[in-house]
Amino acid sequence: MEVKNKKIDISKIKVIQAPLAGISDIVFRGLIRKYGSNCLMTTEMISSEMLCNNPNPRIIDFSDIEYPLSFQLVGHKIDKMVNSAKIIAPFASVIDINCGCPVKKVVVSGDGSAMMKTPKLAYEIVSAIKKETNLPVSAKFRLGWNSEEENYIEFAQTLQEAGADFVTLHARTRAQMYQGQADWSKIALLKKELDIPVFANGDIKNFEDAKNCLELTQANGIAIGRGIMGDFTLPYRIEKYLENGSIIPEPDLKEKIEMLKEHLRLEVINMGEINGVKFMRKFFGYYIENVKNASKYRNMLVTLEKESEIREVLDEILSLHFKND
Ligand SMILES: Cc1cc2nc3c(=O)[nH]c(=O)nc-3n(C[C@H](O)[C@H](O)[C@H](O)COP(=O)(O)O)c2cc1C
Repeated sequence: MEVKNKKIDISKIKVIQAPLAGISDIVFRGLIRKYGSNCLMTTEMISSEMLCNNPNPRIIDFSDIEYPLSFQLVGHKIDKMVNSAKIIAPFASVIDINCGCPVKKVVVSGDGSAMMKTPKLAYEIVSAIKKETNLPVSAKFRLGWNSEEENYIEFAQTLQEAGADFVTLHARTRAQMYQGQADWSKIALLKKELDIPVFANGDIKNFEDAKNCLELTQANGIAIGRGIMGDFTLPYRIEKYLENGSIIPEPDLKEKIEMLKEHLRLEVINMGEINGVKFMRKFFGYYIENVKNASKYRNMLVTLEKESEIREVLDEILSLHFKND
């Protein structure tokens, strides 16, 4: 496969779609593009062990419209990470190294956020991948292992020395997992200490958060994960604001329900009805959060097994909503 538009100008990137394993699949990323965003897409994390055992970049499904597209690798063995990077290099605009995943089964082997405990190893991995692929390399990491070991500035400086082209900081420690609030003030501190671009991540849920976070941190851009769930227009709206100050309103309920139906339709095509409907259960709550009796409807939607049944309930939600208006 020949990849067009693979090349990336990082200085033009203001928004990154932060990887969400089990959520930000080919359909998710395609819909962000459909709603107009030029953001940098990122694959879900790809295990370097798995990729070396089965050297087929199609392990991760992606399509041409997603470019620019970053491939995220997770692992701690230099040879496996470099081999994986070489396998995906023909398809990747950027290779991102996962140094932030807090999940136990990932950190036990020294992967994900455990890499923050071994900065020298992270240095070796980044510099080796840069040398072997000639591609932009980035890393996504947290504040540190816990509040006593917040080494994000030294860690980022080490990666910068290794040749990293940019970094993304999720402003929580590993110990926090996803609890508490991301501390954007730490991103501001990092921005002052680094020469390479810094992208801010954590708890940017809407347009105002994006504006506030950028003002506070002076970061080069933002990375958004969960905020895109239930609103594929968010990256586009943020980009437009940064481009020319225009404020595009959030989609209303009717538009969100249309978006949800489209998301469901495409996942059913992608995975088949049984798996596609199951997969979509994670998303319902996000799309209908502003509806009266949202939890009642969510609880109902997650029991349904057919696309047509879900569409019927969605139509009912819409008609009741407008009747109550
Ligand atoms: C379900 C889920 C899956 C995630 N998967 C990944 C992943 O594969 N790679 C990664 O670097 N971060 C992953 N993250 C972390 C997000 O990319 C992001 O850093 C975090 O959710 C904070 O940003 P947000 O508040 O914008 O979601 C995941 C987070 C969640 C909730």
